[in-house]
Amino acid sequence: MVKSDNIDNIIDHKLFTQEDIHNMCVRLGKQLTEDYAGKKPIVVGALKGAIYFLTDLTREMDVAHQLDFLDVSSYGDGFESSGKVEIITDLSADVKDRDVLIVEDIVDTGLTLQYMKDLIKKRGAKSVKCCALLNKDARRENDVVVDYYGSDVGNEFVVGYGLDFLNMYRNLPYIGVLKPEIIQKYVNK
Ligand code: IMP
Ligand code: MG
Repeated sequence: MVKSDNIDNIIDHKLFTQEDIHNMCVRLGKQLTEDYAGKKPIVVGALKGAIYFLTDLTREMDVAHQLDFLDVSSYGDGFESSGKVEIITDLSADVKDRDVLIVEDIVDTGLTLQYMKDLIKKRGAKSVKCCALLNKDARRENDVVVDYYGSDVGNEFVVGYGLDFLNMYRNLPYIGVLKPEIIQKYVNK
């Protein structure tokens, strides 16, 4: 567990405690256990933000599944989507005729999720759904469906439990809102 003052100092306020996050994983895991009963899905972690959530969520799922990872990047300057999505690391599994569950940290504009869903559908998957920890609905730019999610979140930039700012602060055990001055410090550089 991270206790470093350095990391806590960048947080304006906490949004979700470790207990909140655990409760979300238990609830979602139960739902996915019901919905994927009798199937053998491929669970695709969206790198890198989803890895913390993925490991907790899948341990709450009583469903035989296979794991894979996909890294697509849409972020231009660290906290605003560039709108252009590209594959950084591709899946290793063949998804043809398979049920695929994408695990995401947060769905914001929805561009990344739309790209991943389209890509996996195009490769012939039987079904493609997404389970995200957080849903930033207010910023959505398309009608992509977030099939399962832990909680809604407002239009604030959050870090911790996998969520990053410039690839930092993922290892905070809780989720918090970044102090505006931290963002300003980097944006003005
Ligand atoms: P979208 O394509 O705009 O939906 O962006 C999705 C990706 O942006 C997520 O997988 C996150 O990596 C990142 N992202 C969006 N909002 C936040 C945030 O508040 N904190 C950290 N990362 C975020
Ligand atoms: Mg990110």
